Amino acid sequence: MLRVLVCVSGGGTNLQALIDAVEQGSVTDTEIVQVISNNRNAYALQRAAAHGIRGVCVSPKDFPERAAFYDSFLQAVDDAAPDLIVLAGFLVVLPEAMIRKYRNRILNIHPSLIPSFCGAGYYGLKVHEEALKRGVRVTGATVHFVDEGTDTGPIVLQKAVSVMDGDTPAVLQRRVMEEAEWILLPEAVELFAHGKITVKDGRAVVTK
Ligand code: GAR
Repeated sequence: MLRVLVCVSGGGTNLQALIDAVEQGSVTDTEIVQVISNNRNAYALQRAAAHGIRGVCVSPKDFPERAAFYDSFLQAVDDAAPDLIVLAGFLVVLPEAMIRKYRNRILNIHPSLIPSFCGAGYYGLKVHEEALKRGVRVTGATVHFVDEGTDTGPIVLQKAVSVMDGDTPAVLQRRVMEEAEWILLPEAVELFAHGKITVKDGRAVVTK
């Protein structure tokens, strides 16, 4: 059984997609053992509770300095004894010690086709605002492993989504979630659970 820890900051629709996929059996041999949020008010914590999943909050606001927050956060991560960590809309930059310790075992979902519209400052609605500003006709989502850079780790899965005339950032965000994110994230976890993702020379190799 793959032990999955999910880190969240907000609404948690990607967490929900993963919970549903586990409950409905499209993701197998997998248990979501814990959810960690940096934000006490994240609706994602309520989603976890509604499905009997332990949720904990480790907020930087509760610590005088970053290092103390990181120590406490990493302790909470280790306590969950995860085989896989999923960042599902988690807006905290991870401590480097965590990236080293869990190399190629942390998956992030990003709402664009990396390397477009990614990197520092590109998160949530901002990504879609920039895609619309640039006038791209196609955007999408990416699941990738987390390395020391921002959105620079090995790419596991990507799915393209059309941009429509008249899209607003919110409309586009919703379409990217529905047509790409909520499909890709469970698919990536299922692949990982069955040893179908390896990393070679800094690139992910996926056997379907
Ligand atoms: C999702 O669109 C996710 O791809 C994005 O935040 C949203 C969280 O929504 N993540 C990033 O932008 C990371 N750079 P959710 O809380 O409803 O899953």
